[in-house]
Amino acid sequence: MKQTLVLMVDSKKPEIDKVQAAASIIRRGGLVAFPTETVYGLGADALNSKAIFALFKAKKRPIDNPPIVHVEKIRDVYKLVKQVPPKADKLMRTFWPGPLTLVFKRSVHVPDVTVAGLSTIAVRMPQHPIALSLIKESSCPIAAPSANLAGKPSPTSANHVLDDLNGRIDAILDGGSTPIGVESTVLDLSVDPAMVLRPGGTPLEALRQILGDVTLHPFVATEKELPIEKTRSPGMKYKHYSPNTPLILVEGAVTVVMATIKSVIGTYWLQNKRVGVLATDETAWAYEADVVKSLGSRRNVDAMAANLFRILRAFDEENVDFIIAESVPTEGVGWAVMNRLRKASGYNIIKPE
Ligand code: TXA
Ligand code: MG
Repeated sequence: MKQTLVLMVDSKKPEIDKVQAAASIIRRGGLVAFPTETVYGLGADALNSKAIFALFKAKKRPIDNPPIVHVEKIRDVYKLVKQVPPKADKLMRTFWPGPLTLVFKRSVHVPDVTVAGLSTIAVRMPQHPIALSLIKESSCPIAAPSANLAGKPSPTSANHVLDDLNGRIDAILDGGSTPIGVESTVLDLSVDPAMVLRPGGTPLEALRQILGDVTLHPFVATEKELPIEKTRSPGMKYKHYSPNTPLILVEGAVTVVMATIKSVIGTYWLQNKRVGVLATDETAWAYEADVVKSLGSRRNVDAMAANLFRILRAFDEENVDFIIAESVPTEGVGWAVMNRLRKASGYNIIKPE
């Protein structure tokens, strides 16, 4: 166990002395958690193999699932990748800094462990002032997976990070809660047309506006579990975002979903189980259950995304046997919310007619 240093930092105007203290830990090969606009990341020097091994160990992350490498200016991408396709250039200028991760063919200068031995590398430029300042002061690209223990919901506050990693990492820059609340969209540009490997903070509609044709990896497009040999992104084959409590997702039109959830509650109550419902502002009033939490208004998918991981973590404190969740509208970032709910359910999905 080490002592994890917590530094409170202004999220709009990060205090340079605190950021420099964190940057010196990164330069020495240490691990620092920091906020991005999506979720908290656990950062290490992307070019230091030993630091990256320590990063995997602290998170208990399987060594074959590589982190995203974060840069502070577009120019830094060229040191990490073999080539920048014209499409990438356009996307970087349109969406960076922001919640879009691009998968490129990797350069030989990147250590093998950083890319888990793959021939590609995932890179993004975050939008959060603390993240940008930390990368700049560290003078190196920063590899940063989400700062949770592997398999847990990603952290959207410094407390979530401490719940999982206190004593396992060197420091955390506490800049309050992260505004978007779901991870970046991962887009593979090493294939043509470009393919979404993980829905996230950058909506599909926005990508199609710039690129025209964008495909979805079958894992993203389907609502079912697919055979592992079909994965293209190593992270796809691992169970993610799960609260400890089993979650059942009910998909369909709101009224039908509500009726179905009520009957599922009844079934579990007959078995003396404690039931939680993950509802929305418009529907929460209608449920009689042991615990009812609202994700936010169905008319505001951005707010639902921002609340999602906090509420999934909060359910674990409630001692319920099951969480039954409503599906949410899939426009904009709602697409990413549905993907996380499906994964959290382990594809235990009820679809009433
Ligand atoms: O918003 C985010 O992306 C956050 C913040 C901290 O930036 N980071 C994040 O990292 O979510 P992580 O490591 O939890 O998720 C990275 C995802 C994983 O699913 C991983 O498999 C995938 O990106 N990935 C990484 N390198 C890849 C590659 N070369 N090809 C395909 N997928 C890759
Ligand atoms: Mg993660």
